[in-house]
Amino acid sequence: MLLLLTLLLSFTGYLLPWDQLALWAVTVGTNMMGYTPVFGNDVKFALLGSKEIGNDTLLRWYVLHVLLLPFVIVIFMAVHFWRVRKDGGISGPL
Ligand code: HEM
Repeated sequence: MLLLLTLLLSFTGYLLPWDQLALWAVTVGTNMMGYTPVFGNDVKFALLGSKEIGNDTLLRWYVLHVLLLPFVIVIFMAVHFWRVRKDGGISGPL
């Protein structure tokens, strides 16, 4: 889950510079999502906030990147640190 959330943070963050590289990377990424059977087009529309990339996309991905995903990852990080401490840490004797 932490790896998946980190990858999602990387992808959503990549749009934020709002340059040509970001615009086309997100266009390609969301087009690929659109090909998922049954709900692919709905997911694509929800993520773009429109039929194609635009201002709504930037706002949505900004909120995902700085609010929603960090909130979720902090919960999983807390569980992770708790587990590490519970099992005796990572630097015990071999
Ligand atoms: C594991 C955590 C995170 C990862 C992997 C990540 C990844 C990224 C990446 C790859 C970019 C694009 C940078 C670029 O190409 O210039 C970016 C931009 C950005 N990130 Fe994150 N991010 C993380 C956490 C956060 C958090 C917690 C915040 C704020 C609460 C944040 C705020 C921003 C902002 C404002 C930008 C746009 C500024 C820029 O493009 O330099 N990020 N992030």
